[in-house]
Amino acid sequence: MPFIRPAEDKDIAGIEYVCRMTAGPESREIEAVGRKMSLTYSTYYARAEQDTCFVLDDDGRVAGYILCAPDYKRYIKGFRKNEIPQIWKLDKKHCIFSYFLPLSYLPFRSKYPAHLHIDLLDEYQSKGYGSKMVQTLLDKLKSMGLPGVMLIVDKSNTGAQRFYERAGFKKIISAFGGVVMGMEF
Ligand SMILES: CC(C)(COP(=O)(O)OP(=O)(O)OC[C@H]1O[C@@H](n2cnc3c(N)ncnc32)[C@H](O)[C@@H]1OP(=O)(O)O)[C@@H](O)C(=O)NCCC(=O)NCCS
Repeated sequence: MPFIRPAEDKDIAGIEYVCRMTAGPESREIEAVGRKMSLTYSTYYARAEQDTCFVLDDDGRVAGYILCAPDYKRYIKGFRKNEIPQIWKLDKKHCIFSYFLPLSYLPFRSKYPAHLHIDLLDEYQSKGYGSKMVQTLLDKLKSMGLPGVMLIVDKSNTGAQRFYERAGFKKIISAFGGVVMGMEF
């Protein structure tokens, strides 16, 4: 029976795998594309923010995750120092996008200093695990005294937007193909 637990060092490769598998067909099929997507959206959190990252563990296998960076300044510094040089080696154009990616969170950082990513492998979706993982993270962030958490979801991903709204997130703004959603505690 899958269960939710805090992320550990041993989960980093499994978290990167889930990220690759849920980042679209090109990411699934082409290893270098998958690698750059993992480095962009999962590795920083999995290695540097384990206090606010949780995995869905199915018999030792990472079946999904919720990843959160609670401190914007630490995120931008750590991500640019460690992941950006690796992305540069794989794809320079994508690296420029990734370098500026943290700026999407910047205007919201005083109300929502934390941001999150959540993904589950296909066969674990729509079984209630995502909702439980969000609740686990929210409890943790509240216990840390943070004022709020935000996320950015693709405009076309209406299923995920519904999921977040049900969890209590509100739409803040919609721009450049993305929807910014947030929750104040
Ligand atoms: C979005 C996601 C984290 C939700 O977790 P979950 O465990 O599937 O969700 P729950 O079972 O708790 O709740 C079900 C709701 O999740 C959403 N959902 C379910 N499958 C989904 C999918 N493949 N893609 C997007 N949203 C989905 C729907 O809103 C669904 O409600 P509905 O059945 O009324 O349509 C999970 O489905 C997932 O990882 N999807 C693919 C990757 C993704 O879209 N991640 C979010 C990127 S911002």
